[in-house]
Amino acid sequence: MTPSRMEILTWLSDEKPADVAALRARADDVRQAEVGDEIHLRGLVELSNHCIRKCGYCGIRAGNPNITRYRMSAAEVMACATRARELGLGTVVLQSGEDPGLDAEQVAHLIRSIKAMDLAVSLSLGERSDDELRLWRAAGADRYLLRFETSNEELYARVHPDHPGRSRDRLEQLRRMRRLGYEIGTGMLVGLPGQTREDLVDDIMVLGDLDPDMIGIGPFLPHPDTPLGQEMPGDSPTGQVPNTSGITCNVVALARLVCPQANIPSTTALATLDPVQGRESALSCGANVIMPNLTPARYRSLYEIYPGKATPAGECGEEVVALQKRLIEIGRPASVGRGDSPAWLARSRSHEEGGTR
Ligand code: 5AD
Repeated sequence: MTPSRMEILTWLSDEKPADVAALRARADDVRQAEVGDEIHLRGLVELSNHCIRKCGYCGIRAGNPNITRYRMSAAEVMACATRARELGLGTVVLQSGEDPGLDAEQVAHLIRSIKAMDLAVSLSLGERSDDELRLWRAAGADRYLLRFETSNEELYARVHPDHPGRSRDRLEQLRRMRRLGYEIGTGMLVGLPGQTREDLVDDIMVLGDLDPDMIGIGPFLPHPDTPLGQEMPGDSPTGQVPNTSGITCNVVALARLVCPQANIPSTTALATLDPVQGRESALSCGANVIMPNLTPARYRSLYEIYPGKATPAGECGEEVVALQKRLIEIGRPASVGRGDSPAWLARSRSHEEGGTR
């Protein structure tokens, strides 16, 4: 049963180990019943770190003079897609800063080429125009990821300045993407300076309303080259949410309860915050997706949205093979298919049968 606002707030405020364990066990049961034991692996390709936005939390924000900017060539992206195919991954995620230098036609060409390899394509390219979204969907893109970051409008406006002349309503953009036929993914940061538990409750209610196909939830990790990088959040009487792995996992568990059929990744930010247990903790309280990074080592370290994100500069392939082995050990083997969300599949079927989406 979907939890009420009061129940959600109680769970987020209650730190008694037995209650936390009960919440996570319930989320794990719902995950198993609704989406099964398999983990879907998505190969992440960070194709450009150029960005025109000035998000207060993000290390690749416009105007950060301390990073070297890059944009991968089509051949480099296709080499990553080939690697994804060889490793048995079903999806490639093309992610970048909000980069108008990524030409819409060139992106459409990449999408068509990757789809021709029988891989699903997810896009995570920021707030883009309806024409671009339509073009990319027609080229075969399956999914689009755009986190709303926080549902507290005042906090959002503070950390995410508008781009002149553009609407800032990411929820509206997500609804438009759904109408275009994308599987939609969204999510939020946990522990932004100024964020309260009430805000997190609102975020979870928004997830319940929107019912996204994918939900990414990660802790805020301060980056020293950003305005928010200096403010270390801590738990406080004013209700500031701490950016801990514990509360992040509880939010993941609650997301699973309100959106039982969504695909929910165990995020890289959580694995960065808690390198020993982060990844598997989220898998045991609702998550069912991992996004291994396939970006070539020479670019990976430059896509520093938060510090420490860059994984060891080893062969991407070796890391994925080790992960696939580990997943078998913990009884959560990697899936072989595309890993579409069951809710999206049901919506598509009803659409084909003449129903409404
Ligand atoms: N800490 C954690 N997550 C971050 N992101 C961006 N900057 C940070 C940070 N400093 C997340 C945002 C964005 C996603 C791609 O990365 O939620 O949507």
